[in-house]
Amino acid sequence: VTAEKGGYEHFMLKEIHEQPKAYRDTMRGRMNAEGNKVILPELNLTEEQIKNIRNIQIVACGTAYNAGLVGRNLIESLVRIPVENDIASEYRYRAPIVTPETLVIVVSQSGETADTLAALREGQANGAHVLAITNVVGSSIAREANSVLVTLAGPEIAVASTKAYTSQLIAFTLLGLYLAEVRSTQSEPEVAKILAAMQSLPEQVEVILAQKDVLKAYAEQIAVHKHLFFIGRGVDYAVAQEGSLKLKEISYIHSEAYAAGELKHGTLALIEEGVPVIALATQESVLEKTVSNIKEVKARGAHVLAVTHEEHKDDLLRSVDQVFVIPQTLPLLTAALSVVSLQLLAYYASLALGHDVDKPRNLAKSVTVE
Ligand code: AGP
Repeated sequence: VTAEKGGYEHFMLKEIHEQPKAYRDTMRGRMNAEGNKVILPELNLTEEQIKNIRNIQIVACGTAYNAGLVGRNLIESLVRIPVENDIASEYRYRAPIVTPETLVIVVSQSGETADTLAALREGQANGAHVLAITNVVGSSIAREANSVLVTLAGPEIAVASTKAYTSQLIAFTLLGLYLAEVRSTQSEPEVAKILAAMQSLPEQVEVILAQKDVLKAYAEQIAVHKHLFFIGRGVDYAVAQEGSLKLKEISYIHSEAYAAGELKHGTLALIEEGVPVIALATQESVLEKTVSNIKEVKARGAHVLAVTHEEHKDDLLRSVDQVFVIPQTLPLLTAALSVVSLQLLAYYASLALGHDVDKPRNLAKSVTVE
């Protein structure tokens, strides 16, 4: 059994460590030799059709939904097309406004999630082109979609999704860059800069993996708590949501993810002496604002761990209890690094509490019922 797990104690830990390979495999062959253009022949959309897209709806469940939150941020920044995120089980019941100029993107590791498949059909019934981002080539969703962008994460066994999520982020970045090229919203040098930064991500993930003991120690610290909070702004808020889901799913510790600026509208009431708050603070443009939100929780007694870049470490150490440093990348790409620290945190918290990491109670790997 350990051989199956490649020498790791659990599939989840193995899959966390497979992320550098998953990033490389998902990028491979999808950029030109000069490194300034994305190549996606699997997109069955003409340039004309891409130029005519008026809105994008990203529909998925759970972790795949959370990947879509980052996807929205990427696409809106790179292409300036309005994007909505929808939970698949809600989508068709809200009578979404879909036209033939809508691009519907369904995201699913397994390609078998019933609600996501139903969302795909809803999109198609309204004349939209449905693009699937999936990890399973022969899945129902892959078979029915109009275009399929495959993530090459390899089989994911652990119920808690890790490498599928991060491969979805890579797929969204490639897609965003491709749409940006066709619609001329990014210059070639800008695309080249982002592609170069993407190619450094696998090594940068290794740097985070090498610090897992620090995260293990912190996980043991938080494992005694009943509630905790993840906060962040922008992409950091999207990552906070994934970190919170991951932790709940396998450690059974209750947590909430909050947009940092929204705390004072209610949730701040829950902060008391010793409550752990994990603050994602990687976005330079809103860093000062996030720091002031950190001060709000600190003033109420929270114990704060900040996830940030080296250059902000000293600054943050003045307002928080602990800092976890992730390697420097472009603001658009930080999710692919910061989330790895939260995956490890969830893993070690579950381990510390003696739970079944790979098969958490009440959950199945793929949900094929509505
Ligand atoms: C992830 O950790 C969860 N187990 C779950 O949220 C999952 O992402 C969701 O059920 C969607 O699955 P899919 O990607 O296979 O469609």
